[in-house]
Amino acid sequence: MNKVGILQVAPYPAWDEGPLNETFTMHRYFDAQDKAQFLAEHSAAIRGIATRGERGADRALIDALPALEIISVYGVGYDAVDLDAARERGIRVTNTPDVLTKDVADLGIAMMLAQARGIVGAETWVKSGDWANRGLYDLKSRVHEKRAGVLGMGRIGYEVAKRLAAFDMDIFYGDLAPRDFASDWKFIADPVALAEACDFLFVTLAASEATRHIVGRKVVEALGPDGMLINISRASNVDEEALLDALETGGLGSAALDVFEGEPAINPRFFDLDNVLLQPHHASGTVETRKAMGALVYDNLVAHFEGRSLPSPVI
Ligand code: 8YV
Repeated sequence: MNKVGILQVAPYPAWDEGPLNETFTMHRYFDAQDKAQFLAEHSAAIRGIATRGERGADRALIDALPALEIISVYGVGYDAVDLDAARERGIRVTNTPDVLTKDVADLGIAMMLAQARGIVGAETWVKSGDWANRGLYDLKSRVHEKRAGVLGMGRIGYEVAKRLAAFDMDIFYGDLAPRDFASDWKFIADPVALAEACDFLFVTLAASEATRHIVGRKVVEALGPDGMLINISRASNVDEEALLDALETGGLGSAALDVFEGEPAINPRFFDLDNVLLQPHHASGTVETRKAMGALVYDNLVAHFEGRSLPSPVI
């Protein structure tokens, strides 16, 4: 019997590509030089898309695939998938929630600590010989007992807040409404007021049109010259121009960022700043978690084509 055709939007590690290639005919979209011609040649045979969180599947891609039944996202965020376009055609969408939650929270905390304590600069100080030649490294800021805000008390926000509690921090959070499982922490609905209340602001919101630039100029200003913004969600949640302006002028103390507009070709203004810590969208980037994410991408596709219920459906 012919294998089901899947459009593979981006590469996966070898341990994921093995089983996918064994079970399906994987059409490697990312390898194609002429994307339009590639789609014209293969679209009739393509019944599924395997994509990544940041790549998703837009309306144009969905429209180009008349036999499409399912989009399987390697990532918890599905903001880059045009859900309306999928819904209109009854196309299923799946993601990889839960398996990555703790890794994303861990990296958020690591970024806060690294940036507050100047760990990257300190290592350069040692390796460059500055420690021996120039003496002591600059003093940095403490983290424990300071005030932290978590914007978005979902699964990842909750794990971030739990970790912050271990640093004896005062914890505030923002969301659409107070969450009963977060009763140890203080709810502040307005993002500007939340930013005013804290020294470190974590952005952990699932991105959507409604959250676009929710961290805008006023939030950044409210965080202030001693504040730090940590974004482990999506770039669209933050007004990047406002953020860059504030970082350049000292209106905001510093930022630790895992996500960027137009990534990986990020705004070069970031490269001239010495008050940022930049990560390559790597919060879920551990072998253990990526293996679990890849397995879920595969399991959702197989379940769909075997007519079983989907392990982690979005729609
Ligand atoms: C991944 C992500 O880095 O889960 C998400 O939404 O953005 C990340 O876990 C990404 O999807 C892998 O490409």
